[in-house]
Amino acid sequence: MSRIVISGASGNLGRYVTDLLLEDDAGRALTLVTRTPSKLAHRVSDNISVRYGDFTDPASLDTAYAGGETLLLISSLNVGRRLEEHRNAIAAAKRAGIKYIVYTSFQGTHPRNPSLASQDHSQTERLLRESGIEHVVLRDSLYAEIFTNVVIAAAVPVGEFQMAAGDGIIAPVSKRDVAHCAVKCLLNPEYHAGAVYELTGPELISLHDLARIGSEFHNAPIKYVPVTPQERLALLDALGFPRTYSPEMDKNPAGAMWASDEMLAGDIALAQGFHAILSHHVKFITGREPETLWSVFERCKGKRYDEL
Ligand SMILES: NC(=O)c1ccc[n+]([C@@H]2O[C@H](COP(=O)([O-])OP(=O)(O)OC[C@H]3O[C@@H](n4cnc5c(N)ncnc54)[C@H](OP(=O)(O)O)[C@@H]3O)[C@@H](O)[C@H]2O)c1
Repeated sequence: MSRIVISGASGNLGRYVTDLLLEDDAGRALTLVTRTPSKLAHRVSDNISVRYGDFTDPASLDTAYAGGETLLLISSLNVGRRLEEHRNAIAAAKRAGIKYIVYTSFQGTHPRNPSLASQDHSQTERLLRESGIEHVVLRDSLYAEIFTNVVIAAAVPVGEFQMAAGDGIIAPVSKRDVAHCAVKCLLNPEYHAGAVYELTGPELISLHDLARIGSEFHNAPIKYVPVTPQERLALLDALGFPRTYSPEMDKNPAGAMWASDEMLAGDIALAQGFHAILSHHVKFITGREPETLWSVFERCKGKRYDEL
């Protein structure tokens, strides 16, 4: 039976994909890869193996990917500095004879995009093309859950949120939809190989729209305050965010691990229009309408970002 390898299986998206694959077929052959196998010990069964794998330790990836046919490569967290990690993963996949890779990329691939996250992903997409391995690229918009459970959740008590994103517009996609798309691609990689999908939510919104929808949902006044990049950085410094990502850094109060360089560059990319993308690819891939922001607010109400 063809074995699917999930890298990042312990994470939020990876857990969701694993659940969906097992709902579809409880006997499916899966390899779940993590740096801490004890986190996934409960998943081990006759058909599911949990293996240690660290993007920074190529030998571990050889063992982790062995016997796999299709790999879900969930991008790592080391934004702005993760290209080598992804290079290691793709090289190991090649050595292991992986036939297909489904890669979670990011929206706004463009040589002039200032977003650190986008730059990593653009380069990783290039590595995938050069690898010769058949692959599918899922370019995710910003996750809707970040807006509902981080940006708006933090704005409720103070009545506003500040970003250096000007009048940028975006169609945030729910992680649930990303997971459903990933599953469809993993189950039928021959069909999807070679595709580059833009995964977006159902509508483009401004951050003023976001504030309005958040206000309505929480029944509380919330406004979006556009600020300069300097002001945004000063705010992130004051809130105690580290300037650059470190694997050792603490999660922020919302349960996420982001550094200010990544967030600021992301704001500027949004202001410059790199996220002004609306597609119908979620429906094309899954046959389902993408989840609305309102639905994400309802589904994720009261939860921390890392507990979704
Ligand atoms: N589109 C967006 O808005 C957006 C926003 C934020 C993040 N992302 C991307 O989406 C991905 C999935 O999100 P998520 O919420 O599921 O993240 P998450 O819950 O933080 O999970 C991240 C996963 O990456 C794995 N990982 C991290 N460093 C690794 C390494 N050196 N070697 C092997 N595995 C490593 C972790 O595994 P272990 O710790 O168990 O080893 C974990 O399973 C993120 O990793 C990030 O690249 C996208």
